[in-house]
Amino acid sequence: MQSPRTIIEPFRIKSVEPLPLLTRADRLVHLRNAHYNPFLLRGEHVTIDLLTDSGTGAMSAKQWAALMLGDETYAGSRSYFRLAEVVRDLTGMRHVIPTHQGRASEHILFHVLQQRQIANGLPPMVVPSNSFFDTTRANCEYHGGIALDLLTDEGKDPTSEHPFKGNISLPKLKATLDEHGPNVPLVLVTVTNNKGGGQPVSLANLRAVRRICDDYGVPLYLDAARFAENAWLIREREAGQSHRMPEAIAKEMFRLADGFVMSAKKDGLVHIGGLLCINDDELADAARSLLILTEGFPTYGGLAGRDLEALAVGLTEVLDRKYLAYRHASVRYLFEKLDAMGVPLVRPPGGHAVFIDAGRFYPHIPPWQYPGVVLANALYIQGGVRAVEIGTAMFGAPDPAGGPDVCADHELVRLALPRRSYTQSHVDYLIEVVGAAWNDRSRALGLDIVEQKPVLRAFTARYEPRARPRRSSSAVPPADSDVQPPRNGHGTTA
Ligand code: F0G
Repeated sequence: MQSPRTIIEPFRIKSVEPLPLLTRADRLVHLRNAHYNPFLLRGEHVTIDLLTDSGTGAMSAKQWAALMLGDETYAGSRSYFRLAEVVRDLTGMRHVIPTHQGRASEHILFHVLQQRQIANGLPPMVVPSNSFFDTTRANCEYHGGIALDLLTDEGKDPTSEHPFKGNISLPKLKATLDEHGPNVPLVLVTVTNNKGGGQPVSLANLRAVRRICDDYGVPLYLDAARFAENAWLIREREAGQSHRMPEAIAKEMFRLADGFVMSAKKDGLVHIGGLLCINDDELADAARSLLILTEGFPTYGGLAGRDLEALAVGLTEVLDRKYLAYRHASVRYLFEKLDAMGVPLVRPPGGHAVFIDAGRFYPHIPPWQYPGVVLANALYIQGGVRAVEIGTAMFGAPDPAGGPDVCADHELVRLALPRRSYTQSHVDYLIEVVGAAWNDRSRALGLDIVEQKPVLRAFTARYEPRARPRRSSSAVPPADSDVQPPRNGHGTTA
């Protein structure tokens, strides 16, 4: 075979973990006990967990072996210097500061920026971005900052086929810098744009942002949680890039920036870890002082020596061309199968997830009856799949006057694929589960929130099915549409 059509998982499995296979009756009980909120389910009651791709990947044999090399010396650990060497080679950054995860890096960065604003007698910072991830926005705002999402118009349109829907709008960026110049401590570009479906940012866009930042004398930072997937999609989709290795593209992305925050739980291929990397000596000093207060000594920053070793290996493995080809093939495979069934999706497929448009999936359920949560519940009942709503439950708010909720822009459900954890037969099973929910869509009923917290309500909200059919006690479809566990249970290319 010259070039086989089947892209296989480029690994074999050395260690396995049983999947919970439950009956539909069990799932109904668990979902009721979880108040119809998948966040409140126990992991042991979930068959395929697509809640997040963060910290849920499988480490390689090399990474597990590297754990044993961890040097747990409090200060000056050998494992730190090994990690710092890998990070410097990849990113060219002067100061490499480990943290326990992405939001710790964000907290430290925005804190030291705020301190600098105050010391210079400047008003609160304004931070332009293509799109802030929730915790990044929260950390910016917690430190008095104004976080601006300046996505292009195509980026905001779920139906647009634009290849780089993560791009920041250059005219909007210039207008923001014209208006807020001295109050902008940095421009933050998120690669890939998680909130928008894992959509990539093009190299052309990053280069243009770099030029604008130079013109205005403002540093450029990346939120680099999914840098390798972004590099791969540049190679796949950007003119003139298909001959380049993902590593070369990633190196260029980092070298266009002056610093970055990273949750290493995604493309670091580890279960815990983060990085804050900075070229500015003064800012790095301030960051290290705060790091000692909140995370730990600068050569371990909230991690064990063994975690630093595993991350050093992960950052190298993630740029392997065969790994990235397989990674994107699995996302694309899921996307294409669901698309062929007519399931409304955010287009085109992103780097780490497939987003279903629950608003169009259930046109009879209004946003204030949470169609995304209804769909997440249906996926759980049909086959024990856990997904996350990204819609009005997550980003909307109750109406202070007691009317329907203030709604989000879109009602989406994210199917985030953990790295190297599930095989193609798991994805085939998932496709069957979504298909069963799709076939039953007209019978689905909305939900009411019966209990919620004032902030971040989606994580703990309690729901009740809105109206019950006469002879059924739940809003979920009947048992005859159940999806059985996969009949072909052994292959990776089922
Ligand atoms: N930035 C981006 C783009 C992210 O997607 C995340 C986390 C963070 C920062 C924060 O990193 O979790 O290590 O503190 N995203 C996860 C998700 C939680 O499910 O998308 P963290």
